[in-house]
Amino acid sequence: MERVDKILQHPVFIKELAHIGELEKERRYCRHSIIHLLDVARISYIYNLEENGGLPKDIIYGTALLHDIGKGIQYEDGTPHNISSADLAKGILADCGYNEDESQMMLEAIYLHRKFVETDNYLARILYRADKKSRACYSCEVCEECHWDETKKNLSLDY
Ligand SMILES: [Fe+2]
Ligand SMILES: [Fe+2]
Repeated sequence: MERVDKILQHPVFIKELAHIGELEKERRYCRHSIIHLLDVARISYIYNLEENGGLPKDIIYGTALLHDIGKGIQYEDGTPHNISSADLAKGILADCGYNEDESQMMLEAIYLHRKFVETDNYLARILYRADKKSRACYSCEVCEECHWDETKKNLSLDY
């Protein structure tokens, strides 16, 4: 997982993750820490194994680690974080050795992760599902107040 380790050490990744942590210190709803990013990576990878998706592990983990990395920018200037995350991820993926085709697939998955859309991009489909499935809405104290619509909330434990 050499390329994934490079993402973890990338200065932009480190800076933005710390930025998000700072801005979410008092947040009552779901956070976007490394815990969430890894939950999404691992559930995506389980889907890939269960469904014989055939995607390489470092593509899945790289995408999951970066899918919310623009959340701090969203808090600050209102840019939807699927867009700010894809923008930041572009440079990081190039620096970490992902080629043009890989990067394109990964960036599309990040770009599409917030809203359900029909797509041929399997990575985008599992990222969307894992992102929702990773949240423990079934055991959340502020579930009633959460702005997520009911179709997105994860009310059963599968993984
Ligand atoms: Fe997100
Ligand atoms: Fe997420």
